[in-house]
Amino acid sequence: MSGPSSLDLSTSISQSLGIELFEVENKSFPDGEHKVRIHNDVQDKNIILVQSLYPSVDYHFMQFLLTAYKLSQMGSKVYACVPYLAYARQDLEFQRGEVASLAVVSRLFRSIGVSSLLTVDIHSTHGLGYFSFPTYSVSAMPLLAKYVKNNLDLNSPLAVSPDFGGSSRVEAFSKLLDIEFISLKKSRSRTTGEVIMEESNIEVEGRDVILVDDMISTGTSIVRAANYLKKLGSKRIITLCTHALLVNEAVNSIKASGVDEIIATNTIPNDVSKIDVTEIIVDHYKSLR
Ligand code: R5P
Repeated sequence: MSGPSSLDLSTSISQSLGIELFEVENKSFPDGEHKVRIHNDVQDKNIILVQSLYPSVDYHFMQFLLTAYKLSQMGSKVYACVPYLAYARQDLEFQRGEVASLAVVSRLFRSIGVSSLLTVDIHSTHGLGYFSFPTYSVSAMPLLAKYVKNNLDLNSPLAVSPDFGGSSRVEAFSKLLDIEFISLKKSRSRTTGEVIMEESNIEVEGRDVILVDDMISTGTSIVRAANYLKKLGSKRIITLCTHALLVNEAVNSIKASGVDEIIATNTIPNDVSKIDVTEIIVDHYKSLR
């Protein structure tokens, strides 16, 4: 079943799996409320509900909750397929009194009858621990690496993670291409949100750089990293990520910082979503058969 945010992706998933595609009817009222309606007979069916939670996050989240609840109330088993899982960055009480948002998300999923969750490149696999039913995060790194291999001609490429938290991700990516990698040390002030780059002992002069991240939101992390890498003499900079949220002026600021290209997957459909994640999602469900 396609949720309203992921019609194209759910169409290609259903075609690849050779299964029927249902579509939920969603109406939004002028005050922002939603009403969803399911027209199909879903009793005793295993339903993969595909709904990515990109901005407007809470808008798409509410559509998901209403649909999943109704599916389970009508007697189906709900397999949530949430290609971009919002709230996954706030997976801890980083400062006293903060909410670990993902813990609340997990409780909501459980309470409306979701039986399993599949997502793509969750921000940190630590977050999966909050869910009391089977959860899976599949990696888009092999698809990103394949894209680079087939489409880009790079000079002495270097893969770079804009922060240390992305080390294992960039390592997996660079191994697939057999290229060098480094992780920059970035720290973000939890009070002001400011991103600070720390010096790093790397050789980037004259090299083409591939910046790899799980997500780009405001673009701040990429801009800081690009500025730093340009200062060190890098040539082309290509940015690859799984989830391109691209909020506010992200695209303009990223381009202005000297990044030549932004490439992302279609977990979030937009102008830069050039890599299709259908294959890794379909492989996951085939492995459950
Ligand atoms: C942070 O740890 C993430 O991996 C991303 O680097 C970050 O969330 C991107 O956000 P923004 O584009 O706003 O810097």
